[in-house]
Amino acid sequence: MARLNQIGIALSSERDLDKLLSTILSEARKFTSAEAGTLYSVEGDKLRFLVTQNDALDQLDGRGAYPISTPGQSMPLSRESMAGYVALTGEVINLPDVYAIPPDRPYRFNSEYDRLDGYHSQSMLMVPMTEPDGTILGVLQLINALDGAGQVVPFESRWEGLVMSLASQAAVAIRNVRLTDELKAAYLDTVLRLSVAAEYKDHDTANHIRRMAQYSAVIAEELGLDAQQVETLRCAAPMHDVGKIGVPETILQKPGKLTEQEYDEMKRHTEMGASIFEGSDAPVLRMSGTIALTHHEKYDGTGYPRGLRGAEIPIEGQIAALADVFDALSTARCYKPAFPVEKCLEILRESAGSHFNPEVVEAFIRRLHDILAIRERYASAQALR
Ligand SMILES: [Fe+2]
Ligand SMILES: [Fe+2]
Repeated sequence: MARLNQIGIALSSERDLDKLLSTILSEARKFTSAEAGTLYSVEGDKLRFLVTQNDALDQLDGRGAYPISTPGQSMPLSRESMAGYVALTGEVINLPDVYAIPPDRPYRFNSEYDRLDGYHSQSMLMVPMTEPDGTILGVLQLINALDGAGQVVPFESRWEGLVMSLASQAAVAIRNVRLTDELKAAYLDTVLRLSVAAEYKDHDTANHIRRMAQYSAVIAEELGLDAQQVETLRCAAPMHDVGKIGVPETILQKPGKLTEQEYDEMKRHTEMGASIFEGSDAPVLRMSGTIALTHHEKYDGTGYPRGLRGAEIPIEGQIAALADVFDALSTARCYKPAFPVEKCLEILRESAGSHFNPEVVEAFIRRLHDILAIRERYASAQALR
């Protein structure tokens, strides 16, 4: 029981779903001395293989990859298969020998998997992965319990409850990770759409915002910011120009040079952006405010609005500044064509120490490969889909 509690704590702190599922399956196998096991998830009218583990096959080919039950593949959800039966009814199946299933059972064992994997399944324990509200998210399957001598024996029925509670913890954890992922995706989508709404007044595009956010994250990673900060920056950077919502279109879209007064008005988008996020407790919105305020500051103190210099400029502002400028240089704008990458790099190198922090420029250049992949990925000026 203590061990189960320990696992519960470990599971609830694991955010990576794949790792989480592998841990659940291997813990369930350890409890029952099962040689192999599989996790399936219910997805619509299909059962999908999530994780497959098999010590015997691992020893044979050292790869842990099996031809048919490969993660990602799926099979129809039906009462005729054992996993399907468990997923649909919530009943536990515990059989000493899957090749001797009593004929009155509605399901049968599909020996094709054994044939293709070159394995012999014998004893099997299958339990549903049930959420507290009764929803079945998947099935946990354990194959071939081994005794001390390595001989296949039936799964003892006393293990059933324990494996079920482990499977239920798994179901809750899976649901939590899915909810968090959905929330994160919805949040990012909202941010992008709002940022684009703000930039409709200007000539920037949805892809400018996407690229700029991804560039910022790559640079931050290279500079050694922790993973959490990198993610916060990725979400915060798209909003660098939302303050433009308060700048008249006549100025933002003026084809010619701005008068001094107009330029001053345009510069105010930094402070207006900051005021939009003022007072928020959410880390990402606080960072958005910082970036909005400082993305036009320059390393040598000649930027705006405050004329901050060097380390006075928060690192996220320094990073966003470079990401924003590189994107402006490397893509076509209404007032200029796209510069070739070499030319952009030359400009950035020349600006190291004046416009940009030299360390940020170096980090950017070290990760040029990733930067160009992002540029490629979000190449066109297409709108959000
Ligand atoms: Fe800006
Ligand atoms: Fe921008």
